[in-house]
Amino acid sequence: MGVFVFSLLLMMPLAAPPAKIALGNCESTCGGVDIPYPFGTSYGCHRRGFRVTCDRTHRPPKLFLQSNGPEVLEISVRNATVRVRAVVWSFAAAGSNASDVVKVTVLPSNLRPYALSAARNALVVVGCGFQLQAAARPTTTTRTPFGSCAPSCPAAEPSGLRHGRRECDGVGCCQAPIPAGITSSFHVNLSWLDRNATAAPPPPSWVAPGARMVTVEKEWWSHRRNALAAKMSLLLSSARGADGLVIPAVLDWALNASSCAAAAKRSDFGCVSKNSECVNSTSSAAAGYVCRCNDGYDGNPYLPGGCQDPRMRLAPGVFLSMGVGIGMCLLLLVLAAIYAIKRLRARKVKKVREYFFKQNRGLLLQQLVDKDIAERMIFKREELEKATAKFDEARILGGGGHGTVYKGILLNQHVVAIKKSKFVIQKEIDEFINEVAILSQINHRNVVKLFGCCLRDRVYEFIPNGTLYAHLHVGGSQRSLPWKDRLRIAFEVADSLAYLHSAASISIVHRDTKTSNILLDDRLTAKVSDFGASRGIAVDQSSVTTGIQGTHGYMDPEYCYTARLTDKSDVYSYGVMLVELLTRKKPSMYMSPEGASLVVHFTMLLNQDKLYDILDEQVIEEGEDEV
Ligand SMILES: *[C@@H]1O[C@H](CO)[C@@H](O)[C@H](O)[C@H]1NC(C)=O
Ligand SMILES: *[C@@H]1O[C@H](CO)[C@@H](O)[C@H](O)[C@H]1NC(C)=O
Ligand SMILES: *[C@@H]1O[C@H](CO)[C@@H](O)[C@H](O)[C@H]1NC(C)=O
Ligand SMILES: *[C@@H]1O[C@H](CO)[C@@H](O)[C@H](O)[C@H]1NC(C)=O
Ligand SMILES: *[C@@H]1O[C@H](CO)[C@@H](O)[C@H](O)[C@H]1NC(C)=O
Ligand SMILES: *[C@@H]1O[C@H](CO)[C@@H](O)[C@H](O)[C@H]1NC(C)=O
Repeated sequence: MGVFVFSLLLMMPLAAPPAKIALGNCESTCGGVDIPYPFGTSYGCHRRGFRVTCDRTHRPPKLFLQSNGPEVLEISVRNATVRVRAVVWSFAAAGSNASDVVKVTVLPSNLRPYALSAARNALVVVGCGFQLQAAARPTTTTRTPFGSCAPSCPAAEPSGLRHGRRECDGVGCCQAPIPAGITSSFHVNLSWLDRNATAAPPPPSWVAPGARMVTVEKEWWSHRRNALAAKMSLLLSSARGADGLVIPAVLDWALNASSCAAAAKRSDFGCVSKNSECVNSTSSAAAGYVCRCNDGYDGNPYLPGGCQDPRMRLAPGVFLSMGVGIGMCLLLLVLAAIYAIKRLRARKVKKVREYFFKQNRGLLLQQLVDKDIAERMIFKREELEKATAKFDEARILGGGGHGTVYKGILLNQHVVAIKKSKFVIQKEIDEFINEVAILSQINHRNVVKLFGCCLRDRVYEFIPNGTLYAHLHVGGSQRSLPWKDRLRIAFEVADSLAYLHSAASISIVHRDTKTSNILLDDRLTAKVSDFGASRGIAVDQSSVTTGIQGTHGYMDPEYCYTARLTDKSDVYSYGVMLVELLTRKKPSMYMSPEGASLVVHFTMLLNQDKLYDILDEQVIEEGEDEV
């Protein structure tokens, strides 16, 4: 990693920053070929006529002009050219026809803004015993050809053919210039000098029979590195369709307009970059214009802000040592930054812990921070994945906006409920740490047991029978929990609240006591759950001031009014829960005909000795003897 960063940094000051070449989110490369605007692969990404197609059925993908044009090897904005794969034409050996007049299609005729570059291509013909004439139109091949050649063929192999010393000079190979203005096709007339070639001696062994012709990039063809013989045989295999051999040709392109003056008046004027200028196209393409970055700038003049000052970049070599120096400095800076960030993170984690440490009088998290407990309580993600079969949907027990609860089986065969949080908002993290801190303190048979946690997931004892709320508020005429069970559950909840308030090392106020936070196990034993909002109150304090938190209908009005939290707040909520157990009405929703809340209505009826008006039928029925 260090070495990687180091080498990156070394390169940074020396290489140009990667300038933007394409529009917005447009594809800017295909199979290693850059696609600068005005070219583009999709609608909105290219100028009219400059569509290219990236064919991903090839490995690596290949880029094509339009959809039916030649394969693109390189696009140059600065030269206004495209290098494409050249096509090699093949003419059969003499014998059958005295002469062939063929139309040579370089580009499909619908490719508008392109033309074969006259300056950068040549017509190259390889073979023996023929004369070839090329002209723009078929009728002019013999009268005004633009090129004509007839290679000679000595019986002995010419010297230098295999050693890169011989050019295409008329011995077995000849070349002719290409005129401006070939946008699609031209015509050739190839006539064999010896019509009876089959009877004549075969061509010398150093040249293959037949003729091959190509319009090819001059610079590439005349490059001395490859021997002429090698290039001649490359033409031969290319003509046979060998795909891997690439012979380049160069196309010019221009933007469509009669001149710069005319183009500049139009809304689609292409030279949009600052520091760019319009130039009448001198290429062989149909009248048009191209854009150039002004002297001292380079980049893509067809993009807003595309032309940039290259002096911003440091020349390699001259500034090499400077680059190395800057690179080292940057490396040190980055390393220092990484270190600093790590320290900061560690400090933040510590701060969060300290915060809760303070808030809960230190007693809670002190234990969590304790190594043994932490190690026992922290589950690895993989362990939880194993326990829930990768959080299988079939294992979902329930869930809501906050997260999903899964049933899981730990390695030690404990059946657990795993609460997987959805969000990482600070409030939830706070609640999470709070709950872990509080529950790790508590061991009571009527309080749900927390086995551990893992980042944002919590692992609880599995309570199979759902919430008291669900048991109580069953629909329609269905019978609800028997009164006996309701009474026992009330005792159990009271017992656990009393424990929380007084028996634990600090007084814990649950703060959200309600039937939907009471879980029931297989024997309908109550388990108090959801300690996300709970707070510890030190023994020497009777209350703390907090933000108001709780559930409407259950909340202690005094706490609501004063924001002073005491254990009495839980007692009030517990009382509301008792009313709920007696009446089977939902405290957060109930409204009497006079608009009173459940508690107000209940106490009113109690005072008027009319309690039977509101009691649950089932309670009246089952509890009669005791009441
Ligand atoms: C641009 O043109 C110059 C001069 O013809 C040539 O040497 C260079 O290779 C061209 N660059 C590209 C990318 O075609
Ligand atoms: C000979 O010429 C005819 C018509 O001009 C053409 O159809 C045929 O393909 C040519 N044969 C060869 C081998 O070029
Ligand atoms: C092709 O060239 C030969 C030889 O120069 C000539 O006799 C013949 O008329 C030409 N054919 C055409 C169609 O121009
Ligand atoms: C070509 O060969 C035929 C017979 O095969 C002969 O009649 C004709 O004269 C020969 N033409 C030339 C130009 O040699
Ligand atoms: C582009 O050029 C063609 C002819 O080459 C012309 O018919 C057409 O009107 C031009 N388009 C624009 C927008 O100028
Ligand atoms: C471009 O061509 C037009 C006429 O076609 C001419 O008036 C104008 O001066 C030329 N501009 C440049 C910059 O050469």
